[in-house]
Formats: sequence, C-alpha cells, structure tokens
Amino acid sequence: MQLTITRPDDWHLHLRDGRGMADVVVHSARSFARAIIMPNLQPPVTTVSEAAAYRERILAALPPGADFEPLMTLYLTDLTTQEEIGRAAADSGVAAVKLFPAGATTNSEAGVTNLELVLPALAEMSEHELPLLVHGEVVDPEVDVFDREKVFIERVLDPLVERLPGLRVVFEHITTREAVAWVLDAPPTVGATITPHHLLLDRNAIFAGGLNPHHYCLPVLKRGRHREALVWAATSGNPRFFLGTDSAPHSRTAKEAGHGCAGIFSAHAALELCAEVFDGAGALDRLEGFVSHHGADFYRLPRNSGNVTLERHEWEVPAAYPFGDQELVPLRAGEKVGWRLVEE
Ligand code: DOR
Ligand code: ZN
Repeated sequence: MQLTITRPDDWHLHLRDGRGMADVVVHSARSFARAIIMPNLQPPVTTVSEAAAYRERILAALPPGADFEPLMTLYLTDLTTQEEIGRAAADSGVAAVKLFPAGATTNSEAGVTNLELVLPALAEMSEHELPLLVHGEVVDPEVDVFDREKVFIERVLDPLVERLPGLRVVFEHITTREAVAWVLDAPPTVGATITPHHLLLDRNAIFAGGLNPHHYCLPVLKRGRHREALVWAATSGNPRFFLGTDSAPHSRTAKEAGHGCAGIFSAHAALELCAEVFDGAGALDRLEGFVSHHGADFYRLPRNSGNVTLERHEWEVPAAYPFGDQELVPLRAGEKVGWRLVEE
C-alpha cells in the first residue's frame, strides 16, 4: 500500500542551536519542505535581526543539497515594541510571533507576564495580519497541570479574540477536547496545530512500565478521551487543524534527570507516525490535507509543488540518535513504526 501526497510542512518545530542542530535538522529536512521554527533559544530570538542570523545558522547546518526552508518566528516579551513588529511584518523571513506565558515551559522565562502589557504589539500584529502562535497554558500554580489548557481558553483566549477580532491566532499543540471545540467555534482567523505524540499517546504512556521521561512534554499528555477528540479533529478534513510536530530535542541526560526536561523528539518519524494515525482511523485520504495543505493555506503560503511517497512497511526506530556530543532518545525508540517514507 503506497500513498503519494504533496510534500508536507511542519508548522511547529524546535531545532535548538549550536552543536546539536545539524543532527536534528537533517531529520526534518528528509520529510518536510518548510517548518515554523520556534524562537525559545537561550537567549530567545526577540528581534528580526536575531531571527535572520538564526535562519542563516540553520541553513548552514543543512546537509548539502537539502531543500528545506525555515520560517522564522519572534519570541514575544513584555518589552516587544510595535516598531519591531512592524519590521517583522515587513520581513519575508519572519512568518509569525510566538507567545509563551512566562514560566509555562522550556525557556519561557522571558515570556509574557501579563497580556495587557503586549496589547499594543498584538494590535500591531493584527494590523499587519502577522499570526500569533500561542502556547495555551496558564501558569497559575493553583490550576492543576492537566487543566492548564482548558483554563487558558477561558482566561486568555476568549478575551483576546474578543478584543482583537482581526488577530490571526494559531492555538499551538492542542491537547484537549475543549480546545478542539473552541477552535471549531472560533472565527476563521483561528487555526490550531496538533502533534503526532498527542494523536498517538494518552497520559497513561507516561507511567506504562515505570515512569518514562521520554513521554513527558508540555502541554502534558491528557486522558484518552482528549486524544480521541484530537484524532477526530485531525482526520476530520477541517482546514483549521494542521500538523505542528513540536519535535523538541533534549539530550538523554537532560530527560533522564531528577527534573527531566519537557519535550518529545519526533522529527525522525513524524510524517510516518501521522500516516499510522490516519490509517488507524480509516482516513488516509485526509492525511494530505492535514500535513500538506491546511497549514500552508492558513499561513497564506503556496502549497509545496513536490510530492513524497509513503508506504505501509514496518521499520524499527533506533534506540538513540546523535545530538552534538550527546545522544537523544526519539519517540518509539527501539519499537516499530508501521509506515515509512519511500526515499527517492
Ligand atoms: O514539551 C515541550 N518542549 N513543550 C514546549 O512548549 C517547549 C518544548 C521545548 O522547547 O523543549
Ligand atoms: Zn513547542
């Protein structure tokens, strides 16, 4: 069984920087034509000139002959100026601006502490139709970690969309049925990304066979019924939902630690794992929309011209991949994936 589709894009990707970057970008470039690159480096990418320099480093890390376009994002802080937003909107290399609530996740310390402070920047983005990508979790310690996305919808997203109805918003890596319902009800300016790991795993995977740090990510995996809602959304054919892998490499030592880092590396098999999900749902005919069409349409970019071919064929994921002078443990390490990319 083979399936040929338009070359896909990854609308949410962490590539990091420095020594490990070449080892991870090669995986994305194998399957994807373009990717939205997250700006949560240390220090974060907060200006257009920093984004341009990071883009050059990514291009320099690509293997010879690779055809992969990084679409850059700026990291929104309390201090982001309207001028910087204006420069970002005028620069074709910057595709969007990312909002991390301060303290919500990896390298989010410089993120937004209070939405009121960034309203002028957001209004400027709305003016220029520059998309806002949102990590949708509240940081209030009173709110249970499994409820942080749902509460974010009520406390932040609803008021935001009401105040700035023209703002284009991507609700990133949605994990709950409340998020699916909210996106379905939201105006057409709103889209959402879904990750392969949230389509495949529920929270039991964190504890199966002993505590597994390689299944720890943020937003954390949720109950099975939420996963089912995500599979429904992704396979529904609704153009609001598109693939953002949130592939987020951390070294084995950073994951298998007393306080292990959040993030799941999936770029080595993200497309193949999506094929598995869509196959399981009897929706292979809708895979192309989710991985190759809906995101490009939302970002108002041309769909890719080339194709990729997938085939139903089992292969085993290596136990680890190189990551600079470290190694990283990929999703499904040492286990089988049911689909593979047919290399040209
Ligand atoms: O699991 C995650 N890892 N979630 C995020 O929001 C950030 C990411 C990272 O950068 O490692
Ligand atoms: Zn992310």
